[in-house]
Amino acid sequence: MSVQITQNDAGVLTLSLHRPDKKNALSLAMYRQLTEALQQARNDPGVKVVVLQGSDSCFSSGNDLQDFLTAGELDAHHPTVAFLYQLNAFNKPVVAAVAGLAIGIGTTALLHCDLVYAAPDCRFQMPFSQLGLCPEAASSLLLPQLVGYQRAAQYLLLGEAFTTEQAVAMGLVNQQVANAELLAFAADKAQQLARLPAEAVQQSKALLRGKIKRKADKVIAIELEVFGELLKSDVCRQQLQRFFEKK
Ligand code: COA
Repeated sequence: MSVQITQNDAGVLTLSLHRPDKKNALSLAMYRQLTEALQQARNDPGVKVVVLQGSDSCFSSGNDLQDFLTAGELDAHHPTVAFLYQLNAFNKPVVAAVAGLAIGIGTTALLHCDLVYAAPDCRFQMPFSQLGLCPEAASSLLLPQLVGYQRAAQYLLLGEAFTTEQAVAMGLVNQQVANAELLAFAADKAQQLARLPAEAVQQSKALLRGKIKRKADKVIAIELEVFGELLKSDVCRQQLQRFFEKK
């Protein structure tokens, strides 16, 4: 399985992306695993906090580009779509530990996490327009809200990459942590959260994120309509084929 799932006695559920040969590109099977794990965690009082991580050298190279080439309709049953809605709706705190690559959904998923820790070597990038695509995961709403319109345009229209230092400065990342310490550091923060009264933490998250989640839910649907159309376009298909031909 490409997502390793562990749970400790304190109620920390850790979801580790593990597809090293593809730089943790997210396959449909991985989206299914993540969605199912979040769905179960949502209803399990034994789970207090979720950690989302890759390895200490690679978070994720984003959506599997091969799957983009063969994607059917992006309706609510599509594994990627189901994951986006589940992540946006998730009611318990999510702590992310990010190292190396955080491309596409590797960055946009972080906009839905509550605490984000990143190693110094990160490359954050949302190259949607370069691929002939558009923002997803409500990033067209959440990123400008976080960093201001012009900087969001720099990252979502130009698709420029940014560093951990920049991600900390813009508030996407809480703190930079050395690669060797990253996973233990995030686990420790999750443990701290898990020790707090669970109801208070969940109600607080609902107050902090409730209004924006409701908007994000709608924006995800609007983005997907455009994304689905662009995905079928010749320009996008040529860009995707070019990626695999370069290999
Ligand atoms: N989907 C599918 N496969 C991917 C992938 C992705 N998103 N990212 C990397 N891979 C695969 C490569 O095809 C390669 O497979 P191979 O060994 O069978 O040829 C393997 O992972 C290693 O990637 P490689 O490109 O050789 O590593 P690199 O260090 O030179 O470059 C990236 C890493 C991430 C810069 C480059 O792989 C890349 O640009 N990937 C696409 C990122 C992307 O556009 N994501 C989607 C955004 S919406």
